[in-house]
This record gives sequence, structure tokens and C-alpha cells, in this order.
Amino acid sequence: MELTRLISVLFFLLVITAGSSASPQHWRKKRVREPCKKLVFYFRDIIYNGHNSKNATSAIVGTPAWGNRTILAGQNHFGDLVVFDDPITLDNNLHSPPVGRAQGFYVYDKKEIFTAWLGFSFVFNSTHHRGSINFAGADPLMNKTRDISVIGGTGDFFMARGVATLSTDAFEGKVYFRLRADINLFECW
Ligand SMILES: *[C@@H]1O[C@H](CO)[C@@H](O)[C@H](O)[C@H]1NC(C)=O
Ligand SMILES: *[C@@H]1O[C@H](CO)[C@@H](O)[C@H](O)[C@H]1NC(C)=O
Ligand SMILES: *[C@@H]1O[C@H](CO)[C@@H](O)[C@H](O)[C@H]1NC(C)=O
Ligand SMILES: *[C@@H]1O[C@H](CO)[C@@H](O)[C@H](O)[C@H]1NC(C)=O
Repeated sequence: MELTRLISVLFFLLVITAGSSASPQHWRKKRVREPCKKLVFYFRDIIYNGHNSKNATSAIVGTPAWGNRTILAGQNHFGDLVVFDDPITLDNNLHSPPVGRAQGFYVYDKKEIFTAWLGFSFVFNSTHHRGSINFAGADPLMNKTRDISVIGGTGDFFMARGVATLSTDAFEGKVYFRLRADINLFECW
């Protein structure tokens, strides 16, 4: 008899505590919180153009029927798929030692304007960081800044989620560009 009463009191307490911490207000407040981690990196991309095979860090691997894999196609490069393996640096100096590699692809996906879809990872294996951060999202290149999603991570960035703001730090015609990535993580483990 005593035991049943104790159990029902405990159950009652459990219901009250669970109810208060799961109220909608509680979660709404949590969503406007500050990033738990901020990181800034630069990465630079040199696209193969038929003459720079030693320097190139990326290559056109797919193109529409009217294009070729040496020069980006007309109509804002629509349909071109580029695979890259770019050095990541902590500042925008070309000679800074890389701390990791940005690896993945981008595909130009609109004829009317210059825009791409990005899917790539930052892969780190240095004294600074170990592990990876995974990114995906639309990159409207003509915008001064573009937000893409941080969809996950491994190692030092286990379960990371957030937003990366990309900006074009430098570019030269169809062959070279350097991006700055301001990463704000909103989930850190
Ligand atoms: C490599 O890049 C440098 C500077 O960007 C350039 O001067 C040089 O010609 C390039 N070399 C090759 C083989 O493309
Ligand atoms: C590739 O396409 C570009 C631009 O359309 C053209 O100038 C170039 O000659 C083509 N190269 C080859 C190898 O077909
Ligand atoms: C990371 O670096 C260590 C030490 O240099 C090396 O043993 C290991 O194989 C590297 N891992 C990857 C995935 O490159
Ligand atoms: C691009 O920039 C414009 C104005 O600066 C902004 O209204 C728009 O939301 C941006 N688009 C994206 C996808 O970031």
C-alpha cells in the first residue's frame, strides 16, 4: 500500500517537471541563442584551364553537350560540374601554411544568373583541428555574402550544425577565386 502511494507521488512529480521544461516558450527562447563556436577560414580554388595542370586544384568533370571540360561553358556556366581539393588557410595570404583541405563539388545551376550549388567538406588533420565540417547549399555568387548550411561534422566538430557565411575575397576571371568562410555553429558537442 505504502509503496503504491510513493510510486504515484513520484510519477506525479515526474509529470510536472517534464511538463515545465518542455513548454513551447522554453524552446522558443533557446532558438535565438548565440553561436557556440565561431571560426573563420579562407580557401582558394584554381580551375584547370588547359595550361595550369601543376597549379590547378579543381577540374570541370561534367558539362552540357554544348560545353567542354577545359573552359567553363557559356550562359553563366550552366550545367558545369567542378570537383575541387583546395587548401584552407587561416588568413588570406597565398603563402600561409594550409591547415586543411576543402573537398567536394559545385555545379552551376542557372542560365540567367551566376549561381551554384555547393556540397563539400573541410577536412582537417593538423595540430589546429582534427575531423571534418560538412557544408551544403545554394551559393548565389553575385551576392556579397551568401549563407550555406553546416549540416554536420566529425572529430573536433562532432555533430556540428550551423550556418557558414561565404564571401568572395578575390577572383581572377574564370580561373581563380578565394572565398572567406565565417562559420557560426549553433550546435556544439
Ligand atoms: C602557377 O601559378 C602561378 C601564380 O598564380 C603562375 O604564375 C604560374 O604560371 C602557374 N603555373 C602553372 C604551371 O600554371
Ligand atoms: C572549349 O570551349 C571553349 C569555349 O566555348 C572554346 O573556346 C575552346 O576552344 C573549347 N576547347 C576545346 C578543347 O574544345
Ligand atoms: C592524420 O595525420 C596523422 C599524423 O600525421 C596520420 O598518421 C594520419 O594517417 C592522418 N589521417 C588522415 C585521415 O589523413
Ligand atoms: C542576396 O542579396 C540580396 C540583397 O543584398 C538579399 O535580399 C538576398 O536575400 C540575398 N540572397 C541570398 C540567397 O542570400
